[in-house]
Amino acid sequence: MKKYTTLILVGIIFVLAVVLAGVLLFLKNQPPQERAVVQPIATVQPLEADSSLWGVNYPNEYSSLIQTANNNTPTTYGGSAQNSYLLEDPRLVLLFMGYPFSKDYNQPRGHENTLIDVRATKRVTDTTHATCYSCKSSDNPGLWAQMGMEAYDAKMFSDVTPDINNPIGCANCHEAGSMRLVITNPAVEAAFQSEGLDWRPFTRQQMRSAVCANCHVTYYFTGENKVLTVPWANGTRVEEIIQYEDSLNFSDWTYPEAGTPIMKARHPDYELFTADSTHYRAGVSCADCHMPYVRDGAMKYSSHDIISPLLDPQQSCGQCHTNVDDVLARVSIIQDTIYQAKIDTEDALIDAITAIKAAAAKPDSDPALLDEGRTLHRHAQFMWDFISSANSMGFHNPDEALRILRNATDLARQAQMKAAQAADDSSLLAVGVYYTINPVPTPVP
Ligand code: HEC
Ligand code: HEC
Ligand code: HEC
Ligand code: HEC
Repeated sequence: MKKYTTLILVGIIFVLAVVLAGVLLFLKNQPPQERAVVQPIATVQPLEADSSLWGVNYPNEYSSLIQTANNNTPTTYGGSAQNSYLLEDPRLVLLFMGYPFSKDYNQPRGHENTLIDVRATKRVTDTTHATCYSCKSSDNPGLWAQMGMEAYDAKMFSDVTPDINNPIGCANCHEAGSMRLVITNPAVEAAFQSEGLDWRPFTRQQMRSAVCANCHVTYYFTGENKVLTVPWANGTRVEEIIQYEDSLNFSDWTYPEAGTPIMKARHPDYELFTADSTHYRAGVSCADCHMPYVRDGAMKYSSHDIISPLLDPQQSCGQCHTNVDDVLARVSIIQDTIYQAKIDTEDALIDAITAIKAAAAKPDSDPALLDEGRTLHRHAQFMWDFISSANSMGFHNPDEALRILRNATDLARQAQMKAAQAADDSSLLAVGVYYTINPVPTPVP
């Protein structure tokens, strides 16, 4: 018996030794970790405009990007439905009187729709420059590299149409090959420089917001050729932008009958968010909320289906906030409050415009006081527009949005008082007269 036990034990030890040797041999012959990483299947040319070619290597990012074409769900103040801001709030027709924004002004939709939407808007006419394509196409980085931004902007919109075939795509945000996030818009590159900043040493987390600044920033046009310029030379706060555009005597148009030189603000999402918002201070980026990580089987990737985070708050906010219902309730309160403040500013602006028009129509109005009123109107309107044209109905930075709207309302009421003083007519101090004598405005066809 003892002999058999020894034999069995020897046998077991032999079998175990063979198995162990086999395992060791197997592990030794495994390739090192780097070799297990997927290599790009296709080589993508620098500045390649066609996103489907990049999509060969990155199918999840590509298929989520093209999903933005189909999004069509509204939220209380946003979402992807193509609502007309002018029909929603007819005050805008009055505030943009004399400027194409009074004809057509819609809510933004997903990135795949840019070409359809820019070609459909009534704001584009025969005299529109190519500048209006700047934030709409992945063909631009290549075209700018070829001809320079000044020559591009000097062309007419319809002249570059044949060269613009792709909506927003990979080349607007990534460098081919390295796939790092990059600033591709020369006007934004120049804007960072004008602030003494170079984006190249930015951290990855900073780039996850800066890459959106390629387009989601305010701008104006320089010179006859309508060169796209981002007014950050004095800083990115609304007062610093006003000071800068004032120093250039810049205006987009003169308000009919009132004579105020108005400057238009345009979606300053990056400026408002980075103006010390709670989330920005906490190190949160645009991509954290708008491009949450999602899974496809074992693969984790950033959703390139960029939409309102309120359409999937569990995915967007839930990665940081444990009580999503609670933060959603906060969003409702913030957006409702800012919406109401925005409407109050609009009513104050309309009263100011009504009074300035009346004072301007009187031959013996004091011209110096009238001009002071116009300057107050100009500043109030830009501050209001800075919040009105920014996306998120103030959520990106509630404190700053309310501060700006409060000051805008104050300046608009001061403008109205100056006009009354200029005309020496206290009847111009009346509140809400516009609607008592005029019909509710509708967009000019
Ligand atoms: C803390 C989360 C968060 C961050 C960070 C954030 N956003 Fe948003 N964003 C929102 C919310 C919430 C809305 C409101 C959506 C709505 O009302 O449906 C919004 C709305 C928008 C919209 C309009 C979309 C719509 O459906 O109305 C745009 C465009 C946008 N953000 C761009 C940006 C950019 C650019 C940045 C960075 C500069 C940024 N966001 C940073 C949460 C965020
Ligand atoms: C609007 C800007 C934008 C566009 C357009 C865009 N990306 Fe991205 N992409 C990002 C951001 C922001 C990240 C997050 C980067 C990070 O976290 O470092 C990212 C991340 C990635 C990554 C890293 C893996 C991941 O999913 O986080 C890949 C790969 C990628 N994108 C591929 C693409 C491809 C392919 C296209 C075109 C089909 C594309 N991207 C278009 C902004 C963009
Ligand atoms: C190349 C320019 C460009 C870049 C870069 C860009 N956007 Fe946009 N974005 C636009 C334009 C233009 C629209 C409006 C498109 C339309 O209405 O047809 C838009 C629309 C949006 C919307 C509204 C989507 C919807 O369905 O309502 C969100 C949200 C948004 N962008 C967020 C971002 C974020 C976050 C980044 C950075 C990761 C970013 N964008 C980078 C140009 C850009
Ligand atoms: C990457 C992490 C992150 C994401 C994503 C995020 N948040 Fe936050 N949020 C924070 C941090 C950090 C604070 C700072 C306060 C704190 O420490 O709780 C904050 C604060 C807030 C506050 C309070 C702000 C104030 O000033 O009162 C609200 C409301 C809020 N978040 C809503 C949202 C919503 C809605 C979303 C999704 C659209 C979201 N957050 C996405 C990290 C995040």
